Amino acid sequence: MDPDRLDRILVNLLGNAVKYGREGGIIRVKVERQPDRTTVSVWNEGPGFPPEERPRLFRKFSRLQTPELRAQKGTGVGLYTAWRIIHLHGGRMDATSQVGHWAEFSFDLPVDLPEC
Ligand SMILES: Nc1ncnc2c1ncn2[C@@H]1O[C@H](COP(=O)(O)OP(=O)(O)O)[C@@H](O)[C@H]1O
Ligand SMILES: [Mg+2]
Repeated sequence: MDPDRLDRILVNLLGNAVKYGREGGIIRVKVERQPDRTTVSVWNEGPGFPPEERPRLFRKFSRLQTPELRAQKGTGVGLYTAWRIIHLHGGRMDATSQVGHWAEFSFDLPVDLPEC
């Protein structure tokens, strides 16, 4: 895939982890290579999001309105853009969270990522 587009996805996910994560908290990035796909995930300590809000995360201009999250500035296009790019490459995007503790955003692609 286009490395610039992959870069844009990673910058947004890491930016979100810093922006919405707990100040001074841990951020983990994991890359797993399997024979047919590569999975990348960004995990952060922080307030996370309630499970019922999950469907809204990847919608255009969608920003969650819980007090900790809405305190940060943003446009709500980063996750939507990432989702579009991943889907156009035949991959999937997912988000999970334990409210008040952590959030994890991940995507996979059906081919190995390009060497950097
Ligand atoms: N790591 C995270 N933890 C909790 N909520 C998040 C996280 N990343 C994104 N979100 C939620 O998803 C929304 C959309 O993210 P995004 O599309 O990147 O837009 P933006 O960062 O401009 O607000 C954010 O406004 C926030 O409500
Ligand atoms: Mg963002």
